[in-house]
Amino acid sequence: MAEPLNAGKWSPSSWRSKPILQVPDYPDQAALEKVEETLSSFPPLVFAGEARDLKARLGRVAVGDGFLLQGGDCAESFSEHHADNIRDFFKVMLQMAVVLTYAGSVPVVKVGRIAGQFAKPRSAPMEAIDGVELPSYRGDIINGIDFNEAERLPDPRRQLKAYRQSAATLNLLRAFAQGGFANLEQVHNWTLNFLENSPAAERFEEIATRITETLDFMKACGINSDNTRQLTATNFFTSHEALLLGYEQALTRIDSTTGESYATSGHFIWIGDRTRQVDHAHVEYVRGIKNPVGLKCGPSITDDDLMRLIDKLNPENEAGRLTLICRFGAEQVKEHLPRLVRKVQAEGRKVVWSCDPMHGNTIKAATGYKTRPFDLVLSEVESFFDVCQAERVHAGGVHVEMTGQNVTECIGGSNTVKEADLSARYHTHCDPRLNADQALELAFLIAERMKRDRNGQAVSEVKSA
Ligand code: PEP
Ligand code: CO
Repeated sequence: MAEPLNAGKWSPSSWRSKPILQVPDYPDQAALEKVEETLSSFPPLVFAGEARDLKARLGRVAVGDGFLLQGGDCAESFSEHHADNIRDFFKVMLQMAVVLTYAGSVPVVKVGRIAGQFAKPRSAPMEAIDGVELPSYRGDIINGIDFNEAERLPDPRRQLKAYRQSAATLNLLRAFAQGGFANLEQVHNWTLNFLENSPAAERFEEIATRITETLDFMKACGINSDNTRQLTATNFFTSHEALLLGYEQALTRIDSTTGESYATSGHFIWIGDRTRQVDHAHVEYVRGIKNPVGLKCGPSITDDDLMRLIDKLNPENEAGRLTLICRFGAEQVKEHLPRLVRKVQAEGRKVVWSCDPMHGNTIKAATGYKTRPFDLVLSEVESFFDVCQAERVHAGGVHVEMTGQNVTECIGGSNTVKEADLSARYHTHCDPRLNADQALELAFLIAERMKRDRNGQAVSEVKSA
């Protein structure tokens, strides 16, 4: 008989006795242990109560009352740690959220891939250039991106720097979210400015005008930023891939009110597509912490794998605990998503279905740059909505790699980035991100889709009445 799945006792370090993939080869183990010890004495970055708040919001999303907007860099870097970058990213997230809130008529739960998104899984442990072979870059929390021996050597002290950077980033995000920057009217004015300069203006004008009218109506009714806090403040949460487990373990804390363990490195953490083996270390760590968590699902996941993972990660079938972040690629989403949705539905499991239209759509341009065609990104999102609609589950969210900067990393969009433009502002430390215009355009396109689905639903409700 198979061993019961959760038989072993969990502790923040129980992952250490399991097989593990994607671990850096630290040359100095004693230095690593010292850093982990130091980190475990540092203050938590987030509180358990905040993670529970996010879980409750995701619980609403799971039952159809909400939409998860998760986005940010593929990999944060030490060199791009500037207030302007954080501000511009936050600004675009807010703009996207307003458009989606309006279109979906549901709360949008905003979660950044930020303030901790530093460690990267790699397809090969080594990289060779002109006959020289060095360890692959694994994210700034582990080693440096420059191709030389000193930089590529994993250095545990980088974890301390990543922790400090995460704390500073989170501090600014909290200030932006609560200190007036998130003023709804101001956010909408930014969007109107964007549309003034966008070739897609005409297409999105209707949604934008309706938001303007709604805001005017509220103002006329006496609802304004002086008397309504919801118009000036917002909630914003942080997330990252829980890849570097020593770091995660060091920031695991027992919540004094419940006695339960929480990852305090961010509000939400997820397991990547390369490290989701059910009996391996990453799943072991994540199963024991009480935060809301994500699981990346790529084409190789079988129905049985998924059920075993759900059993392990959400044994109590708690709505909001588990988000399935689907990343099949525009070509494959229709092949894989329906079978998984059917299985999960048949077993009565409560999950949030979210679409990552980035990681299955990466191609290499003729110029050698890794890129993602905006059309494929859109196509995967459309198919995701199609499948969810056909299978009668709530299309619960999107997960995108994006920045507030005007980079040229993904091709397409209405302010067209062409292959020949990629070299102009290709700044990512890992995968290509949507730039600010592309991200906002994506939000408008999703908004159109949501409105269409809602109108269709209204029509069918009238017909069946
Ligand atoms: C990522 O989100 O950056 C990533 C590596 O994704 P995945 O695990 O889905 O490949
Ligand atoms: Co990525």
